[in-house]
Amino acid sequence: MKILSDKMRAGSIQALILTVFILLSLKRVAFADTVPCAPGGITITEDTPGNPMVSWSNMQLSEYYVVFIKRDDGLEVYCNTSQIQCHFQTECGFIYFISVFAYNNAGQSPLGDVFNYTTAPCCPSDFGPAFISSDTLEIVWSPVRGAEMYETKVDNGTHVNLCNDTDTICALSALQCNTYYNVTVYSFSEIRGSNTSCTSKSVITAPCSPEITNLTRIDSSTYDIHWTSNNDRVLYSAQARGDAGSWTCNGSGTFCRLSGLPCGSFFSVSVTASTASGQSLPSYSFPLETAPCCPANLRVVQVTQSMTNGSWSMAAGAQTYTMMLESPRGKAKCHTLETHCLLGCITCGTTYLVSLEAISQTGFASICMFQGYSSSACCPSGVRLYRLSNNGIRVNWRISSGAKNYSVDLYSSKGNFTCTASADLSFCDISEIPCGDIYTVVMTPTAKDGSKVMFCSKKTYSVTCSGSSVGIVIYRRK
Ligand SMILES: *[C@@H]1O[C@H](CO)[C@@H](O)[C@H](O)[C@H]1NC(C)=O
Ligand SMILES: *[C@@H]1O[C@H](CO)[C@@H](O)[C@H](O)[C@H]1NC(C)=O
Ligand SMILES: *[C@@H]1O[C@H](CO)[C@@H](O)[C@H](O)[C@H]1NC(C)=O
Ligand SMILES: *[C@@H]1O[C@H](CO)[C@@H](O)[C@H](O)[C@H]1NC(C)=O
Ligand SMILES: *[C@@H]1O[C@H](CO)[C@@H](O)[C@H](O)[C@H]1NC(C)=O
Ligand SMILES: *[C@@H]1O[C@H](CO)[C@@H](O)[C@H](O)[C@H]1NC(C)=O
Ligand SMILES: *[C@@H]1O[C@H](CO)[C@@H](O)[C@H](O)[C@H]1NC(C)=O
Ligand SMILES: *[C@@H]1O[C@H](CO)[C@@H](O)[C@H](O)[C@H]1NC(C)=O
Ligand SMILES: *[C@@H]1O[C@H](CO)[C@@H](O)[C@H](O)[C@H]1NC(C)=O
Ligand SMILES: *[C@@H]1O[C@H](CO)[C@@H](O)[C@H](O)[C@H]1NC(C)=O
Ligand SMILES: *[C@@H]1O[C@H](CO)[C@@H](O)[C@H](O)[C@H]1NC(C)=O
Repeated sequence: MKILSDKMRAGSIQALILTVFILLSLKRVAFADTVPCAPGGITITEDTPGNPMVSWSNMQLSEYYVVFIKRDDGLEVYCNTSQIQCHFQTECGFIYFISVFAYNNAGQSPLGDVFNYTTAPCCPSDFGPAFISSDTLEIVWSPVRGAEMYETKVDNGTHVNLCNDTDTICALSALQCNTYYNVTVYSFSEIRGSNTSCTSKSVITAPCSPEITNLTRIDSSTYDIHWTSNNDRVLYSAQARGDAGSWTCNGSGTFCRLSGLPCGSFFSVSVTASTASGQSLPSYSFPLETAPCCPANLRVVQVTQSMTNGSWSMAAGAQTYTMMLESPRGKAKCHTLETHCLLGCITCGTTYLVSLEAISQTGFASICMFQGYSSSACCPSGVRLYRLSNNGIRVNWRISSGAKNYSVDLYSSKGNFTCTASADLSFCDISEIPCGDIYTVVMTPTAKDGSKVMFCSKKTYSVTCSGSSVGIVIYRRK
């Protein structure tokens, strides 16, 4: 380092000559055969970070000083000066070993104290979240030079959370969802304390859990799921889980539509919010029940003239059923836990609308329509038997509205007899019948296909003999 010459220019030439003379004569006396002592009182001040100044006490007989600065990774620099201080460059996280030697003509001073100087640890800079949830940030970073411990700080502007660890990972919990936090990782060493100039990064926690407000039925297999939430720019996903499987829908507003849900099923619905940074916990779940399925295989069988038996197969989700037959002339209804029931007050010869309501445990109903049903033709009334000449019998009745062809069957121990009549007639004849027997008479309307209904009432008559031919015909009450 250049030093003395500037000062000397100030003086006159004579003064310069005088000074040189004095200096030279002093040296000759003093430096003749001794080296300076080792400089002591080494101190270091760091007014500008990264550029500290080392200073030491002035040693007699010294002409100049050389400071050797050796970094703990082996790199060495020196500075050569006639002053008693010198600046050097440092980097974070190193130990610098400093030794100062004084020189004169006779040579180098002995080695004095080796002074050591540790710089502040470096700052972790590659830190970032490894995991984000609604209330937790897990921050990881790479180890940095000189750090013995790390202090992680999250700051929301008014509230600070800290965690200290020697590890390079830290979980900060009990945070608020959907909130920006300034995260800073400070390094710490025993000797230098914290490096306070570490910079922060802004990290947002995962969205808050939404809350389902209601479910709206659009139709039997479609439902809108509504929720409330205070998140911005978040994707919501509603999921319905049940025995039948799981269905999802997505939305960025306050609802989404679940469609194609099967009938007669129970679901538990919950909504989750997610952003690029993370996913919220699912909302508390809401029950969703779809309407019962419609029963299949409905059969309607007439049991008596005024009563029918409806039966069907079991339907998923249904607990009870209401069957209904409706016509302009009246309606019949039954409500049952079984898969069949009897409907009374059926009018013969009437076409009915058939519906079956399947009702769930919670009272949720599906109304299912079926093909119309026609009750059978009415049984004739006023049936009477008369004797004809020649061992014959005439059966007589009253013609009812919507008349049909009729068939009359007479049963006895001596044989069975049948006569039929077309719709416009009110009688038919059996030409030959054995006397002295009891006859059961059944008269039924015949269907187009010739089949007979089985429920028209029976009447019993005694046919007496008068000699060998038919005598009196007597109606027998049961
Ligand atoms: C230091 O400076 C002096 C005077 O300029 C010179 O003689 C000496 O060789 C230098 N020492 C080193 C180590 O550079
Ligand atoms: C640094 O100096 C102090 C005292 O001056 C000493 O206790 C310590 O062991 C030294 N550290 C190293 C790494 O040499
Ligand atoms: C803290 O670390 C940074 C970078 O790692 C470094 O530049 C700075 O000098 C250090 N702070 C101090 C006070 O040394
Ligand atoms: C985070 O730090 C920046 C810069 O210091 C500041 O502008 C911002 O308000 C801080 N945010 C919070 C949530 O503290
Ligand atoms: C910061 O967090 C605290 C505690 O969680 C809370 O009381 C405060 O309102 C928050 N401040 C801001 C600006 O969000
Ligand atoms: C973390 O360590 C620093 C330095 O030792 C200390 O000042 C601070 O109080 C500690 N914080 C916690 C939360 O332990
Ligand atoms: C369901 O919630 C949404 C939004 O909160 C509202 O618009 C709608 O009227 C609600 N429906 C019912 C049936 O409460
Ligand atoms: C909803 O979003 C998720 C994630 O983006 C995606 O995997 C899923 O297929 C979406 N579902 C529907 C029904 O759009
Ligand atoms: C009605 O039909 C069902 C199913 O065929 C049968 O189990 C039930 O016994 C019938 N009831 C009557 C009264 O006929
Ligand atoms: C008459 O009909 C009844 C009932 O169908 C039957 O059991 C009986 O055998 C029949 N009698 C004769 C003689 O055919
Ligand atoms: C009644 O019987 C006649 C003759 O057997 C037949 O032509 C007609 O189709 C039948 N009518 C009905 C309603 O069964």
